[in-house]
This record gives sequence, C-alpha cells and structure tokens, in this order.
Amino acid sequence: MGGVYIKPITKLRGEIRVPGDKSISHRAALFGGMAHGETHVSNFLLGQDCLSTLRCLKQLGVSWERQGTDVWIRGEGIEAWKEPDDVLDAGNSGTTMRLMLGALAGSPFTVTMSGDHSLRSRPMRRVTDPLKMMGAQIMGRKDGNFAPLTMQGGQLEGRVFNTPVASAQIKSAILLAGLRAHGETSVQEPALSRDHTERMLRGFGVDVRSHKTLVKIQGGGSLKSQAVSVPGDISSAAFFLVLGSLVGQGEIILPHVGVNPTRTGILEVLMAMGADIELINIQELCGEPRATIRVRPAKLKGVEIAGDIIPRLIDEIPILAVAASLAEGETVIRDAAELRVKETDRISTVVQGLSALGAKVEELPDGLRIYGQTSLNGGQASSLGDHRLAMAWAIAGMLSKEGVSVEDMAAADVSYPDFLSVIEKVAG
Ligand code: S3P
Repeated sequence: MGGVYIKPITKLRGEIRVPGDKSISHRAALFGGMAHGETHVSNFLLGQDCLSTLRCLKQLGVSWERQGTDVWIRGEGIEAWKEPDDVLDAGNSGTTMRLMLGALAGSPFTVTMSGDHSLRSRPMRRVTDPLKMMGAQIMGRKDGNFAPLTMQGGQLEGRVFNTPVASAQIKSAILLAGLRAHGETSVQEPALSRDHTERMLRGFGVDVRSHKTLVKIQGGGSLKSQAVSVPGDISSAAFFLVLGSLVGQGEIILPHVGVNPTRTGILEVLMAMGADIELINIQELCGEPRATIRVRPAKLKGVEIAGDIIPRLIDEIPILAVAASLAEGETVIRDAAELRVKETDRISTVVQGLSALGAKVEELPDGLRIYGQTSLNGGQASSLGDHRLAMAWAIAGMLSKEGVSVEDMAAADVSYPDFLSVIEKVAG
C-alpha cells in the first residue's frame, strides 16, 4: 500500500497548540499590506495558503519580514501597491484569490491571478460579477468564472448586494472593494458567514456596520496598522476534538483556540452528539474570542445538521463525517451544496474516502447520510490533494481497526504543516 500509514491507537494524552487561524492570518497579512504603518502579526499560520498571500503582497510591492510565526508588514497604504510584473499565484487558496481581487478592484492597473489545478476549477464569478458591477473590468475562462483571471481595476461605485450563498470570501471581496468605492456598499447574506473581515477591519480603524446578516461599509476609509495576535484555528482543532471524543481513553487540552461564534458550529454539533467538551478561560483579544478547550472520550450519537449552522462549520464537515461514521445511529447533513466547490467536491470525495475505509455513507445532492457503526476497518484513502481530507483520513486511521494509509498526506501543509509530527507525539 502507498502513502503514509497511520496506525490505530487506544489512548492518548496531551496538550496540543494548534497553529494560527487560516482565515485570520490571511486577513492580517492583507490588511497589514493595505494599512499605513507597521503591522505585527503573531502566531501567523505558516500553511501554504497563507504563504501564498504573503508572496502575492511582495509582488505588489509590499515589504514584510518573517521570523517563525511572527510577521512584520510595512504597509504604505493600498494606493502604494504597484502593478505586478508577473501572474499572482494564489496556489490552492480561494481566500487569497477572492480577497485579493476585491482589494485590487480599485487599483488603476492590470493584474492576472491564477492558482493550482484545484483553484483554477473553482467558481470565481461569485466575486467577479459583483466587482464588475462596481466598475472593475475582469476577463477569465468561461465568461470570467475560472482563473487565470485578468483584472483592470479603477474607479468603483458603491452598490447594494444580496448574495445567493453565505460566503465570507464573497462578502469580504465586496467589502474590500467597497472600501475604495464612491459611497456606501452593503452586502446582505442568506445566513451569517464568518465575520473575521468585519471584526479586523474595525480593529484597523475602518467604519464597518453590521446587523445580523447585513454589513455596510463607507468608501474612502483607510487602514491604520495594528498588532494582530492570531488565535489557534478551530478548523485544525476540530480533528483533535473528534479524535479526543472517540479514542478509548485519555484527555486532550487545546489552548488558545479561536471561538468566534461564526466558527463554533463544530462545538455545538459535537456537543449535541454527546461529546464531553469544555471551554475554559474564554478571553477576547484583537476582536476575536479564544478559549482553552478540553475534550474527553464520550459515546456519540447521530444528528441532523442543516440550515444556518452550515456556514459555521462548513470546513469541518469531512472530519464530522468521520465522527458520524463511528456514532450510534444515522447522521444527515443537508443544505451543504457549497461543499461541491471547495478544494475538492467534498460531498463526493468524503463518500469515496469513507466508503473505502469501511463506513456506510450515501451521497445526497446537498450533503451526506452516514450510518454510524461500532468500528471502522481502515485501509487506503487519498487526500486527492485536499488538506482537510488528508487530516480526516489520518484521524480515521487512528480510530480504525487496521489503520489507514493516506495517499498524498503532504496536502495537509496547506493549513497544518506540523500535523503528522503532532499526531505522532500525542499518540506516543
Ligand atoms: C474562508 C471562507 C470559507 C471557507 C474557507 C475560508 C475565508 O469559504 O470555506 O476555508 O477565510 O473567508 P467560502 O467563503 O467560500 O464559504
């Protein structure tokens, strides 16, 4: 069998400091580059996605320095950004591409953005259409839907948008363009997506008003540099919340994890499934709440997951599916068609991977139906280049009878570069 073999374990114990939040790291780098003055970002995620954002900033003329997970960005205002002399490569990162397009829509020069095979097949019209309506000119494959995308930015007009999907990347791209437009720009979402952009822009001194699912921004604002301390990523912690719940014995402590309510759907669902999870010492820093999370083994039962909670746990569905495969009874996930346009089509790739490991799972048009069992056999599964699948299959391996060989485990580097050494450590 090929790939990295992950052996079954029966107990574990330890403290795991998960790396910095991916969404917040992207925004700290980008807003630091747009701001006037030096922004110090601590606990920056060194995953490939966030490094792509830093590289794009350098190509736009923003200078920064990095030592470990500390990054100092010397912003001279977004007006000082220069036309890059080559394609901006966003790698695997949808957040880099969509937020950069929004930030650059008001710049009077031409940029071409591209990325890897996966990113070049992800829908971009969801951001290029609103940016074009505001005044940017954008061309791309399939009528502007797929990268490579070339944009000529310029004068923008504020607009009122009703977005068809709850997506923080769409909302953020529009707000960043709105910041440079004439007048007011507003975004109404069908359900609330993660609100890190709104929170961090306020920290950088921008007037952003929000009420429930409506956000408004005035054009013409500028950003003042800030210190940003990035909390641990709850999407990375999710793998250990599931492992710690389903392992035979032990306890895991996860200090300093971001618990922004637009991201804590995973905690609510695991607790509804019967998980023994406790939040200790909740504190707010740099506009983002964080807590120490303690998890102990528990018997999990199946649940229904649908509606407005979906955007609050969208990235955790692959690992939740692993949890559901070992829970008592049936779990149904609906209203999650967005999974089809992630790094892979995560409805079909989760079904493919979990079935290969011996789970009973069915594909639904907008989600999954998982029949819980008392054990998972294990076997071989591929990440298919998708970081969250790589880690979900590794956790499944630790919880299986025979272990799992994960093909392309290296995909985990996109959001969790040390993942393998961390699991080796906690599993002894
Ligand atoms: C992100 C938003 C979400 C999420 C992605 C990160 C962000 O995507 O899945 O991993 O940082 O804004 P969508 O905006 O497409 O829902």
